[in-house]
Amino acid sequence: MPTYTFDLNGTPVTVEAAADAPLLWVLRDGLGVTGPKYGCGVGVCRACTSHLDGDAFQPCTTPVADCAGHAVTTIEGLAQGDTLHPVQQAWIDEDVAQCGFCQPGQIMAAVALLAANPHPTDADIDGIENVCRCGTYVRIRRAIHRAAADP
Ligand code: FES
Ligand code: FES
Repeated sequence: MPTYTFDLNGTPVTVEAAADAPLLWVLRDGLGVTGPKYGCGVGVCRACTSHLDGDAFQPCTTPVADCAGHAVTTIEGLAQGDTLHPVQQAWIDEDVAQCGFCQPGQIMAAVALLAANPHPTDADIDGIENVCRCGTYVRIRRAIHRAAADP
């Protein structure tokens, strides 16, 4: 099988995989990086949301071959040592999570939104398409506003 090298949370990794293997499978099953969750596998629920070169993307529908030479960031790559990313801290301060399953993807979507739009409106936040079956949308909105006010 071919090999692919990409940057994962600041460290180069090389993996052996079929070219069409979804990155989510490579991350979770090959590299043990389980922050990005498997919900639907078809790019709809967005539980797997991570960043590719800083932009939010869905690794369940992205072949590993497309990531070669690029920078992949998962929820595991947000904190700086023991210091949480401001969005992670805002999530804790607003007590956002319920079951937690969708939350890594929600946080990664929020970080990408704030990078592009540092002061999003409620409508901007509602443009995030990540599904939360527990219905934590009101707290997600509050946490994003908190992170925007205290970057
Ligand atoms: S697992 Fe649902 S969008 Fe990736
Ligand atoms: S917190 Fe349970 S699915 Fe979002």
